[in-house]
Amino acid sequence: MIEFHSFFKNTSDKKEKSLLFKEIKKEKKDRVSAYYELPYSTEALQTTKTFMRVREEVLAKIDTLVIVGIGGSSLGLKAIDSMLSHLSHRRKISLRFLEHTDPILIVQNLEGLNVENTLFIVISKSGTTIETTSLMKYVLCRYNLLSVHKEHLLVITDCDSALANWADENDIYSLTIDPLIGGRFSVLSHVGITPLMLLGYNVEEILKGAREVEEKFFNRELDCLLEKAIYYAKNYRKYPINVLFSYSSAFTHFNAWYVQLWGESLGKINKESKSVGLTPVSLIGSIDQHSFLQLIVQGPNDKSVTFLSVRQFGDESVLIPDMSLSSLESTDFVNGISFKKLLRLQRESTMETLIARGVPTDLIIVDELSEKTAGILIFSYEILTSCIGSLFQINTYDQPGVEFGKQLLRSKLTLP
Ligand code: PA5
Repeated sequence: MIEFHSFFKNTSDKKEKSLLFKEIKKEKKDRVSAYYELPYSTEALQTTKTFMRVREEVLAKIDTLVIVGIGGSSLGLKAIDSMLSHLSHRRKISLRFLEHTDPILIVQNLEGLNVENTLFIVISKSGTTIETTSLMKYVLCRYNLLSVHKEHLLVITDCDSALANWADENDIYSLTIDPLIGGRFSVLSHVGITPLMLLGYNVEEILKGAREVEEKFFNRELDCLLEKAIYYAKNYRKYPINVLFSYSSAFTHFNAWYVQLWGESLGKINKESKSVGLTPVSLIGSIDQHSFLQLIVQGPNDKSVTFLSVRQFGDESVLIPDMSLSSLESTDFVNGISFKKLLRLQRESTMETLIARGVPTDLIIVDELSEKTAGILIFSYEILTSCIGSLFQINTYDQPGVEFGKQLLRSKLTLP
């Protein structure tokens, strides 16, 4: 289903691995974060089914879902939907995101929208994120969601958040999540599960994939995650940049999710008051072979690269015609092969080049883009992030650094 291959020297010994494993086990047991429990939780499934029953009439008519949320409240959903949108059972519902305060985008994203055929889902754990509340106020006013179209609004938030209270007071349907699940680790809670169910995905399979990783990791059958974390943490001064080089456009948003997960979780001041972190870089193959690759091959040797590839994807019959064009004969060597094969061979050639140049490289291959593999990918990256955070001796789940700008914004708008 999914294979992990690493081509860098394993530098971790048995003792280091078991120490790290114990730390993660303890973190899970102590509920430092409750995301470890999500693969087993049926709560989001049950309560979403109830919501779908209660709102059956409205949902039967919808052709558009508008998600109002940002960061951990939107990126995971976007990542999974774009990995799976080719599946024939995905409902033909347009998924739009209101996450950016860019006024051009706000207008564009709402263009042609008919409220009668739309469900707005406001997702915010804290309930007070300024982008989300501002955009929520905008749609509340523009579409009369507090009066005429209340049934077209759903709120997903932490229980007891300010937003949960507001929803209660205004009789708005809300689904709540455990505050111990951080935003960027929340995609397997209501935050992702509810919209994904509405889109027609088989979310039980997503959870099954995540469960498989959880079980294997905690049975010590997935030590490659411990080894990779130890390698990254030990070498973070030498290789401070981690590139995720994904060979399918279906991973564009998965890469964006990874950038947030890695950046916001691992860039911290640790227990010894040292600044630590790993810089995530997102690349899509083969497009970025014509861009960032040059920097990896001949620039400073300060990057590790993970290749992400799918075995079964796309149509084998989409071929490069066996066509020779005068003056362009030098390109004939690919004639007659499928684009799928071309992409695979491009990935292999790039990967072999980097290995030969001593770039720490590893490869993740998924058999196909399915609900189960989406769950596997998401959960293995979450566990990997937790492992590195533990080795860095940081709080992986908070983000104190983003508060400074928020405070400044407030003072700019409240000055006399
Ligand atoms: O990962 C995180 O915790 C953050 O990126 C949040 O998801 C983001 O700031 C949005 O927060 P909220 O869901 O509270 O609106």
